[in-house]
Amino acid sequence: MAVRKPKVVVTRKLPEPVEARMSELFDTVLNLEDRPMGREALAAALAEADVLVPTITDRIDARALEAAGPNLRLIANFGAGVDNIDVPAANARGITVTNTPGVLTEDTADMTMALIMAVARRLVEGANAVQAGHFAGWTPTWMLGRRLRGAKLGIVGMGRIGQALARRAKAFGLEIHYHNRKPVGPRIEDELGATYWESLDQMLARMDFISVNCPHTPATYHLLSARRLKLIQPHAVIVNTARGEVIDETSMANLLANGELGGAGLDVYEHEPAINPKLLKLTNVVLLPHMGSATIEGRIDMGEKVIINIKTFLDGHRPPDRVIPSML
Ligand code: 8YV
Repeated sequence: MAVRKPKVVVTRKLPEPVEARMSELFDTVLNLEDRPMGREALAAALAEADVLVPTITDRIDARALEAAGPNLRLIANFGAGVDNIDVPAANARGITVTNTPGVLTEDTADMTMALIMAVARRLVEGANAVQAGHFAGWTPTWMLGRRLRGAKLGIVGMGRIGQALARRAKAFGLEIHYHNRKPVGPRIEDELGATYWESLDQMLARMDFISVNCPHTPATYHLLSARRLKLIQPHAVIVNTARGEVIDETSMANLLANGELGGAGLDVYEHEPAINPKLLKLTNVVLLPHMGSATIEGRIDMGEKVIINIKTFLDGHRPPDRVIPSML
């Protein structure tokens, strides 16, 4: 009797080598047209799958999970952040959740550093001016930005990506400061020359650049609240490649529009893909479409991790990237 291959439903189009390997290993249902799934399509996927491979664009909350069929045992998220999934609710139904940490660290840190530079040195404004035919020759005072060397960078969340950013920023001569639930330990602090701030308020008030690198959890929702945003110096720049929900986007947009914040480099938004219309009108911002991990290498590595998590789980072992709610 032929053994039934496990049914793996993938909610979005993944890089071709990942889809090809998944199709060899499993009874894989692909989304070749890459249409984001609405509630109904997601419910049908949850009902028929043994394993679901969602992405950030799928909201798998407790209500959505009510549609889960009896065979669904694993949700193998294609992505490191799992704020799109109600992990405790999934676990309560006996469904394991995995993610893809580690493989997108360097790409996301590159993009964060790029945003710091882009805002500080007005790269997008300058490039747009040239393309619009506004370059009439060099002048001593046009397009002046701010120097990175010697400036203070405050990193909110010193996990893998925060540390990878700190390494880059140190090489550019930035002074590294950070806020985290706990200090990273003396060896890493020495390597990075990093100063730990137990008080986020105290750190925010002293920085020239602030980078958000923590996950979005109930504890970090609006961590940069309206009150805290007001503590930041008016020349300072905020960069966010983590999750929009960590910053009160409306308050940030108002402060930027009123000149009470120096600038912002944003790759993520509170109500993605919607963006506060005020932000779209500003020149002191660089706005990207959630592309921090968007390298072909990174996305293939993420797919590879998804496959390893599924294979290990189906072979009866604990998958390497199991998400434990208490660790979120
Ligand atoms: C992913 C991300 O591309 O992995 C994450 O947490 O934010 C992105 O870089 C996206 O989440 C895929 O689901």
